Amino acid sequence: MIRKIALSAAAALALSGGVALAAGSEGHIEDHAFSFEGPFGKFDQMQLQRGLQVYTEVCSACHGLKFVPIRTLADDGGPALPEDQVRAYAASLAEITDKETGEDRPRAATDHFPESGLSNAPDLSLMAKARAGFHGPYGSGINQLFRGIGGPEYIYSVLTGYTGEEKEEAGSTFYGNTAFPGGWIAMGPPLSDDQVTYADGHPSTVHHMAEDVSAFLMWTAEPKLMARKEAGFKAVLFLIILSSLLYLTNKKIWAGVKGKKTA
Ligand code: HEC
Repeated sequence: MIRKIALSAAAALALSGGVALAAGSEGHIEDHAFSFEGPFGKFDQMQLQRGLQVYTEVCSACHGLKFVPIRTLADDGGPALPEDQVRAYAASLAEITDKETGEDRPRAATDHFPESGLSNAPDLSLMAKARAGFHGPYGSGINQLFRGIGGPEYIYSVLTGYTGEEKEEAGSTFYGNTAFPGGWIAMGPPLSDDQVTYADGHPSTVHHMAEDVSAFLMWTAEPKLMARKEAGFKAVLFLIILSSLLYLTNKKIWAGVKGKKTA
């Protein structure tokens, strides 16, 4: 019995190299270097603006961002749009039913983005934190420690992972996708090359649009990422200074006692 367990553990270890790709029905997630990764990573403001554009022109037809207040588009560390543009953007979105009057009115910057228009399309506000692109090995989380949780990578990989295959099942069409768990997704490939025209002249291949919208969705899921890193950095700096002062104080207090040699 013990021998059997030891053997299968050895076999599992031998496999662990390639297991991230092959594990069960987990999809294949490409690692991707985003600007906001690592202890000093920052959101790239232009990239967030481009991602917002892709979301607005493509994804918002089906997916909502109902947890995101529109006014945060003006926040520092985010897309940082000028206030007047944020107001104009809010007004361009679908009307909202006013909670007090019960009547429809244009959306204001203080409202949230609309909900998903298509009932089976999930809300994307927190998607980048709700999905883990990287796992294991064996539940240890070591991969995530080095490569991050992989939420934005997961979204990028879903958007770029179409195999071109399609199948009909129970009246719905499913599309072959190497990143989506199970390998078949009910969302047709949403992006095609040059679908949007970026104001900053950035190339708009599927790869670039997927990258930009994934970064934007990381921002919607964690808008205070940069402030959090900064606070962490300051805390570590403070602890280093405090530790050195305490060390010196300790030395001074014990100097009289420790300096004496008894032998
Ligand atoms: C035509 C409607 C439509 C459009 C446009 C669309 N999606 Fe989807 N999307 C869906 C549907 C429906 C699903 C659910 C698929 C499923 O569960 O099989 C989905 C699923 C997803 C998922 C997987 C969620 C999960 O559960 O893991 C992601 C990520 C996603 N969409 C992102 C996007 C992004 C980003 C865009 C814009 C570039 C976009 N979608 C455009 C309809 C759409």
